[in-house]
Amino acid sequence: MHINKSFEEFIKGIPKAELHLHIEGTLEPKLMLELAKRNKVKLKYDSVDELHKAYSFKNLQEFLDIYYAGATVLITEQDFYDMTWAYLAKAHLQNVIHAEIFFDPQTHTNRGISFDTVINGIHKALEDAKTKFGLTAKLIPCLLRDLDVESAVQTLNQVCSYKNWIAAIGLDSAEVGNPPSKFKEVFNTARQNGFLTVAHAGEEGPAEYVWEAINLLKVSRIDHGNNSLDDEKLVDYLSEQKIPLTFCPLSNLKLKVVTDLKKHPLKTMLEKGLMVTINSDDPAYFGGYVNENYLSIAESIGLLHDEVCVLAKNSFNASFLTEQEKQFYINKVEEYNKNFNE
Ligand code: HPA
Ligand code: ZN
Repeated sequence: MHINKSFEEFIKGIPKAELHLHIEGTLEPKLMLELAKRNKVKLKYDSVDELHKAYSFKNLQEFLDIYYAGATVLITEQDFYDMTWAYLAKAHLQNVIHAEIFFDPQTHTNRGISFDTVINGIHKALEDAKTKFGLTAKLIPCLLRDLDVESAVQTLNQVCSYKNWIAAIGLDSAEVGNPPSKFKEVFNTARQNGFLTVAHAGEEGPAEYVWEAINLLKVSRIDHGNNSLDDEKLVDYLSEQKIPLTFCPLSNLKLKVVTDLKKHPLKTMLEKGLMVTINSDDPAYFGGYVNENYLSIAESIGLLHDEVCVLAKNSFNASFLTEQEKQFYINKVEEYNKNFNE
C-alpha cells in the first residue's frame, strides 16, 4: 500500500517514545570510522561503503558479530557521549520526546573499558538532551545472555552503584540456547535492588521463552516477542495483562525474523488489542530510525490513522514514566492529532 504525503507527515510528526533502542546500535559508519581513527583501533572495514555492504545478515548471530566488532571503537567517555548525542539529536528530529535506552556494559568492560566511563559518557548526553531538546530519557543496562551468570552478577553489582540513573535491567544478545531461566537468580537480585526488568524474548527463540521472561524474570515488557503468536494462550495472557511488546519491524526484516513486513505480527497483535509499540532496535545497522520503522510497517500492512495514534499512545503507556508523566505525554499526542485534523 502506498501512503500519501499527508499521512507520511502525520506519522513523522506525531510525538512518540522509543522503548527498544540499543545505543551501540546507533553508531553510524561515519562516526565509527572517525572513532576508529581517533583511538587507533583497526577495523575489518575502512569505508562507509564497505561497512554498509557488510550489513547483510542471515540471522541474529551474524548481526551480533558485526555489532560487537563495531563497538570496539568506543574507548573514552567522550566517545560514548558522541554516540549517544548523535542518536538523541536524530531522535529529536523524528519527534521522539522520551527514550528508554539500552546499553551493553559487558561489551565494554570485557575489553577493559570501565563501567564508569561508559555510563558517564551516556548519562552526560542524556542530561544535555533534556536541557537542549526537552527530550527525557531512562537507561536500561542489558545483560548479555550468551555470557555466563557470574559475569551477569558482576555487572549487576556495577549497575547497583548507579541506581539513580537506571530504570530497569534488560537481557539481550544470542537468544536460542540462552533461555531467560538461566538468569532467574540475577533478575531476582535486580528486583530486590529496586530495578524493573525487561527481556528480549521470542525474537528467534520460542514462545516458551516469553513465558519464562514473564514468570521467572517478572518482566514489565517483552522486547520483540514476535513468536508469541505461536501460542494462543500466551497471546490471551499478554492481552489480559496488558504486557507491552516492543516491536522493531526493520530489525525483524534485516535479521530474517520475518520474510516480509506484510507478514509481521504487529497488525494481528494490534487487532487483538495488545499493547504493541514500534521501535528501531539498532538503527545504524537496520536501515532506519523510529520514523522509518513506522513508515515501512504502515506501507506494508496498511496502518490506519487511528492505529498510528494508538501506537504513539502505547509508546508512552508502555514506558517507565509515572502515571502523571504518561498522561502529560498522551495529552500531547491527542493535541497533535486534533490540530492535524483541523
Ligand atoms: N536481539 C538481541 N540482542 C541484541 C539485539 C537484538 O535485536 N540488538 C542488539 N543486541
Ligand atoms: Zn533489541
